[in-house]
Amino acid sequence: MSVEITESSVASALAAALEAIAQATDSSSLKAARSSFLGENSPLAALNASLKDVPNDQKASAGKLVGQARAEANQAYAQAEERIVVAEQNAKLDAERVDITAAPSHFRAGGRHPLMLLQEEFCDAFVGMGWEIAEGPELESEWYNFDALNFDEDHPARAMQDTFFVEPVDAHLVLRTHTSPVQLRAMLERELPIYVLAPGRVYRTDELDATHTPVFTQIEGLAIDKGLTMAHLRGTLEHAARLMFGDDARIRLRPNYFPFTEPSAELDVWHPTFVGGARWIEWGGCGMVNANVLRSAGIDPEVYTGFAFGMGVERTLMFRNQVQDMHDMVEGDIRFSQQFGMVV
Ligand code: DAH
Repeated sequence: MSVEITESSVASALAAALEAIAQATDSSSLKAARSSFLGENSPLAALNASLKDVPNDQKASAGKLVGQARAEANQAYAQAEERIVVAEQNAKLDAERVDITAAPSHFRAGGRHPLMLLQEEFCDAFVGMGWEIAEGPELESEWYNFDALNFDEDHPARAMQDTFFVEPVDAHLVLRTHTSPVQLRAMLERELPIYVLAPGRVYRTDELDATHTPVFTQIEGLAIDKGLTMAHLRGTLEHAARLMFGDDARIRLRPNYFPFTEPSAELDVWHPTFVGGARWIEWGGCGMVNANVLRSAGIDPEVYTGFAFGMGVERTLMFRNQVQDMHDMVEGDIRFSQQFGMVV
């Protein structure tokens, strides 16, 4: 249907379009304004369509009038679109703003396991004195775990109740019962002199209870050099005890038997603040490396001597940090670890 093209009809169509565009506050109201006032069925479109009915002599001026109005409306639309896009983008960024300084409320930081922290603290101190870390497998050959360490064929520690033997039996593999087999591996692999610590997991067929666990951790020490004596062993252990328990710690060595050391000793540690009062607590075993063990590794006991020691990490944590129950150390409850600090 043709509409009359006059200055006022064009002006009012334009004014209606400009007003609708100006009032649009978001992209959907702008879209609605566009279809009502610029689209196919809009008054401006109707005016444009009516141009064909305008007499030829007025076509140029009517065309200009309608064309300018449509151009103005389109330009207003483009400006509004830009304004609304920017506004909407800003609103979205505002809504999605993340406060990176806010303290997290539900996130719980993890923590290294206290056994691992203790082990590393011990090892770090020795590494600081020039010692090295040595490793061996947890699935170990019987030869390294027993024979080369001078255990007799019928030594009770080989009996089934202590050792996890691994099938097939004729492969002669065991879950290592101590970290001492790493002594042999270190002697066979390294150049002399040797100063190594071997931390790691060991296995025995014990039931888990307050003071036992079938999987536990030991730290083995081994020094092989010319002229090493029991005095060096004692000094080293004294240092280790002060490191772990504090400057007031004292040690004593009680004669004992281990097949791989001669002489051998039980190592006790004393501290004034131990739970239960100042007292001696059994901490580990030690001794001068048995000449047979040196020979197993091809080292001449006439030229080199050595000392060795081994202690339990769980036991150390028990006395040092008053942990009463082994279950706490193996069950993996984060609340237990958190008491020891969040060192990661
Ligand atoms: N391997 C021994 C154990 O598990 C501990 C031990 C004793 C280690 C004397 C040593 C040592 O290095 O010299 O009971």
